Amino acid sequence: MKPVDLTLKGLEPVPTPWNSDMLKGMMISSELIQKRVGELADEIDRSMPDDKPVVVLSLLSGAFLFTADLVRHWRFSIELDFMGVSSYGKNVASGELSWTHPMQIDLKEKHVLVIDDILDTGQTLRKVTDKLHLSQPASLRTCVLLRKERQQPSEHSVNADFVGFFIPDQFVVGYGLDFALQFRQLPFIGVLDAHAPHTAND
Ligand code: IMP
Ligand code: MG
Repeated sequence: MKPVDLTLKGLEPVPTPWNSDMLKGMMISSELIQKRVGELADEIDRSMPDDKPVVVLSLLSGAFLFTADLVRHWRFSIELDFMGVSSYGKNVASGELSWTHPMQIDLKEKHVLVIDDILDTGQTLRKVTDKLHLSQPASLRTCVLLRKERQQPSEHSVNADFVGFFIPDQFVVGYGLDFALQFRQLPFIGVLDAHAPHTAND
């Protein structure tokens, strides 16, 4: 099934009690997220080979809610681990990643599914998959909830195998995604208001 294309969809009002002058509107409701997560879970389930162990590797912190909802649909057995990676750390030069939490699992000869919240330039996922390939998994596939529309895919980017939604190029928060560590707990995806006093130049 194709990703749900929201690139031309307008915003809805932010539901109470989450209204905030830092949010411009709601892009994806909680109901729509849950429906699509169920579809993605089915899609992945149907395509997952059962000849070798399956490892689900979730990228902290943004993918924590998405991972939690996705894996609860599955009845096949998985090894679940988390890997911390940050592209916005204080001491991280642009384009570089800092590894904030190492994974514990040996990936060799296992089917690996990497889960991330959002694919923007694709650099994060490219660097993560380049690193994981060194561990010689039997297969390596990627799943993201959101894929930002881009005119020019960069040469360093990578496509995800499973995508929940295509979205316009706006800064989104909620359902795991943060702005300065805030808004991760929202059950929906909202758009940050770039003109709000606390977001400017922050
Ligand atoms: P990429 O390397 O440009 O693909 O960036 C991916 C990472 O940047 C994601 O895993 C997020 O952590 C972060 N990111 C990119 N766009 C957004 C956004 O709109 N809101 C919050 N985080 C974002
Ligand atoms: Mg992330």
